[in-house]
Amino acid sequence: METKKIKILVLGANGQLGQEFRYLASENQVLDFKFFGRDEVDICAEGDVHRIIDENKPNFVINCAAYTAVDKAEAEVDQCFAINRDACATITNVLNGKGIKLVHFSSDYVYNSYTGFPIKEDDNKNPQSVYATSKLEGENIIRASEVPALIIRTSWVVSSFGHNFVKTMKKLGAEREQLNVVNDQYGAPTYARHLAKSVLDIILKVTENPSLEPHFNDTYNYANEGLITWYDLASQVMKIAGLSCKVSPIPTTAYPTPASRPRWSVMSKQKIKHNFGIVIPHWYTALKECMDAMK
Ligand SMILES: NC(=O)c1ccc[n+]([C@@H]2O[C@H](COP(=O)([O-])OP(=O)(O)OC[C@H]3O[C@@H](n4cnc5c(N)ncnc54)[C@H](OP(=O)(O)O)[C@@H]3O)[C@@H](O)[C@H]2O)c1
Repeated sequence: METKKIKILVLGANGQLGQEFRYLASENQVLDFKFFGRDEVDICAEGDVHRIIDENKPNFVINCAAYTAVDKAEAEVDQCFAINRDACATITNVLNGKGIKLVHFSSDYVYNSYTGFPIKEDDNKNPQSVYATSKLEGENIIRASEVPALIIRTSWVVSSFGHNFVKTMKKLGAEREQLNVVNDQYGAPTYARHLAKSVLDIILKVTENPSLEPHFNDTYNYANEGLITWYDLASQVMKIAGLSCKVSPIPTTAYPTPASRPRWSVMSKQKIKHNFGIVIPHWYTALKECMDAMK
């Protein structure tokens, strides 16, 4: 008898994380994926979301769609809230009562307090920008709904797909002799492929073992292991790429941006590792793998 495949529907499938799920789907035989980019499904349009849920009847919906232009959000407030907050209500309204589980992503930006200790999920929230506030309010809507939802707060997402800091540094490093990069914001990059793999691992585990369902319906931090600054990351990008561009450390005050950035984004991953038995690679391994995938 053929075993039933787990049906997964991915929204926002053309972003960094969405494309990593596409990549992993190509080598996965157990999971049955359907991908929808913004051109096919606008998560703000309830009719669109209804239609594809009814047509595909998934077991899991993975929402990779988001408004991620952090600085632009300060001027495009309505658009940012429509996608990051209001669409969470649209999605949960559609999923409600259908027995479909949701995976949703949020951001380290919701914390923004300098403690010097790894931030735990229940620690103080202090969103300091339109983007950060929209992400926290989106999370709150999902948590308040009846839909079982895994919410993952992630940081500094990098991938061989889409736009990100590593790609920008590689490009600028090839064009310039010197670059200034902020050296007083601490955190860790997240290789989107590692995050996507962990999510699929969790989906398999919770499907196999329903006693994990209460753990699934919870909020978690996820980033690669270790602690660095953007300056450290840029320096390693130059080294790995074999670029001679000199990277100089500067304080955040020397690089003002419309949206404020958290100085301390070092998140504890203890909860997700413990609850699901997953292993998270170190940021250096992640960076090497990500840059290999860029070749
Ligand atoms: N990137 C980071 O450093 C970072 C850090 C922390 C947390 N996160 C979170 O991680 C998640 C994944 O981020 P990412 O880096 O993969 O983002 P991304 O590369 O910007 O991808 C987001 C995708 O969502 C799509 N989208 C936007 N509005 C949509 C709508 N109304 N309907 C359907 N699709 C829509 C975008 O399409 P268009 O390109 O056509 O707009 C884009 O393809 C997000 O929740 C983000 O907030 C990211």
